[in-house]
Amino acid sequence: MPFELKPLPYAFDALEPYIDAKTMEIHHDKHHAAYVNNLNAALAQHPEYQSWSLEKLATAYDQLPADIAQKVRNNAGGDSNHTFFWQLMGPKGGGLPHDKMLAAIKKEFTNFETFQAQFNEAAKTVFGSGWAWLCRDKEGRLRITTTPNQDSPLKQDMHPILGLDVWEHAYYLKYQNRRPDYIQAWWHVINWGFVEDCLEL
Ligand SMILES: [Fe+2]
Repeated sequence: MPFELKPLPYAFDALEPYIDAKTMEIHHDKHHAAYVNNLNAALAQHPEYQSWSLEKLATAYDQLPADIAQKVRNNAGGDSNHTFFWQLMGPKGGGLPHDKMLAAIKKEFTNFETFQAQFNEAAKTVFGSGWAWLCRDKEGRLRITTTPNQDSPLKQDMHPILGLDVWEHAYYLKYQNRRPDYIQAWWHVINWGFVEDCLEL
């Protein structure tokens, strides 16, 4: 099959106590795996599209046959979003962004605290399942945005730099209905080195 589930780049318990090992195991091995499996199953119906990149599938799904377009939208987006999400977290994360990232944030949002408050508000107010993002737009400016379900910000011509999964599957075992507590905890596991690399891509 053309797409494979990439391994989590750290142990399931690496983000404890902020994100618990059981959540990470189910999130990666069950939820993320299902997106990959469902994507492959959809493409098996039309193998001529198996050569498309994940990014193309997640953004140009409306060019696909109608019987697989929505499945590919959901599952290519799910694979792409989660692969990105695992990398932007890590053990010994958190703290302030590195120099270039911090300067970029200050340029657009005045200071880190203002950015963080705006990002938190966006993440809290995603209705139902979806994602909050920090992206670079076509003009090169940093923007906070959200996407519903597993839609990719790439579809909006946005280059993702930071993203937060606010599906209940990302936090329910530990935080139940307390999404704001999960959002606060998540800042402690951000791999700012990876985020800064994304800024410069
Ligand atoms: Fe997720």
